[in-house]
Amino acid sequence: MKFKIFVAALVTSAVALPSSYSLGTPGSHAHLFSEDVTNMSFPEGFMWGYASAAYQVEGGWDADGKGESIWDYDAHNHPDWWPENQNGDIACDSYNQAAVDVELLRRQGVNTYRFSIAWPRILPDGTLNNISQKGIDYYKDLISQLKENNIEPLVTMHHWDNPRAIEDKGGFMNETIIDYFYDYAELLFKTYGDDVKWWITFNEPKQTCGGGYDYGGISPNIRNLGRGGYICAHNLLRAHAKVYRMYEQKYKATQQGRIAIVVDESWVEPASNSTADIEAAERANLMTVGWFAHPVVYGDYPEIMKQRIDSRSAQQGLSESRLPKFTEEEKIELKGTYDYLCVNMYSSVLGAAQDEAPITDISIGGDISVNQYQPDDWEKTVTSWFKVVPWGARHLVRWLRDTYGDEKGIMVTENGYHDSGNEMDDLNSRGRYHKLYLSNLNDAIYKDGVNLIGYMAWALLNDVEWYAGWQVNLGHYHVDFDSANRTRTPKQSADYYKKVVTTNCLVDSCESSTKKIKLA
Ligand code: BGC
Repeated sequence: MKFKIFVAALVTSAVALPSSYSLGTPGSHAHLFSEDVTNMSFPEGFMWGYASAAYQVEGGWDADGKGESIWDYDAHNHPDWWPENQNGDIACDSYNQAAVDVELLRRQGVNTYRFSIAWPRILPDGTLNNISQKGIDYYKDLISQLKENNIEPLVTMHHWDNPRAIEDKGGFMNETIIDYFYDYAELLFKTYGDDVKWWITFNEPKQTCGGGYDYGGISPNIRNLGRGGYICAHNLLRAHAKVYRMYEQKYKATQQGRIAIVVDESWVEPASNSTADIEAAERANLMTVGWFAHPVVYGDYPEIMKQRIDSRSAQQGLSESRLPKFTEEEKIELKGTYDYLCVNMYSSVLGAAQDEAPITDISIGGDISVNQYQPDDWEKTVTSWFKVVPWGARHLVRWLRDTYGDEKGIMVTENGYHDSGNEMDDLNSRGRYHKLYLSNLNDAIYKDGVNLIGYMAWALLNDVEWYAGWQVNLGHYHVDFDSANRTRTPKQSADYYKKVVTTNCLVDSCESSTKKIKLA
């Protein structure tokens, strides 16, 4: 049920923080906003949290023997790719301030914290030849602090920060990464598996592979159009499957955890009701989300993806398809390698049929050949691709359910709003964004029957955006990057999100619900 309501911001109450720490002064909380928003409570057991990534918050890039990651390498060797001095060397200093972050999470009332482990912090050269005890201890300590505060750790093993030493061997272009990642993952299970019950192997492999090895934009920022992304994805998916099976065979019985991979999507909505546009949008979704979701659910890439890339490769005069093929054994190994489905969502686009891209166009975009665009009148943010499209969230999770099933549960592992990061009175922008996206997700739960099990807001803190420093940010807490202790100050969005997660309700008061999340 929808109705219009005014929501007043809550005022953050004071709590004890570590003595060395001073909290900044909150902005004024004068703003109110109104919007059509559901008054249904979220289901019992809903996982509410924040998400982060090691490189974006930790700093301590070489502290206590940490190895160099590909992002450290870029920060130091390609400073021109970054705004001046805005990189992850110190970031939010979370390496030294885990206790502060946990205290803020506790204040916010969340029951889950998604963070990533930096592979080179644990294994400085990426291999078991050199295990850093200090690195191991850092995450042990973080995990135990979370658990003491009843906050469930949700751990990403890889959020884009390959050890540089592994990249020197070719990174995801070289299949040897499969064994290195396997060793690293097994060390994580052995070390943290008694406490961590929710694992993610890879964050947004479409970005890791597309941005990393195909069209650029993500470290190692290699351009190999229409080829590199597919090779990377193939190795990454094989690594994911091997790690899933290893856990299943050796650790699951005793540790009882769950493993997933995170896909990301700018949902592609058909631009019209025409069959051509509907098919085009479906193809775009299958060749982006399905690129990764199909193999882990069904054991292979989507048929349409194989057909199109095989056919275009042949027409391009290549003796082999640019899309590698899984062996029959690999398909069996891959099929069903997920215990819950994870998706990161920020914006949406329209997809319209277009002429087939010229055959000389060797690129992922050419392979998809769908005209994807955002109308000018869609609500803008500071980032060109990022328009506010709340209904896209509902359509995306519904499509995931229809395409992949939801009996194991679907989790939104990232959702957040870009601005300059300096708006403290962000109730009408960021607060409203979360509210409207969540209202649509709530409709997906109650009106469409989607088994949505959780929502991780990106992010607790303003952090280091990839190659963008703190020019763009998404945090519910402002971070003073000029201060030695990186002072964190709550914005209005922090107060609103706190209200939501502590009441399960987006508005002043909600209809209670007997619905519970279902876990596999
Ligand atoms: C990434 C995050 C990033 C966020 C906001 C996602 O694609 O996983 O690391 O900060 O987008 O731009």
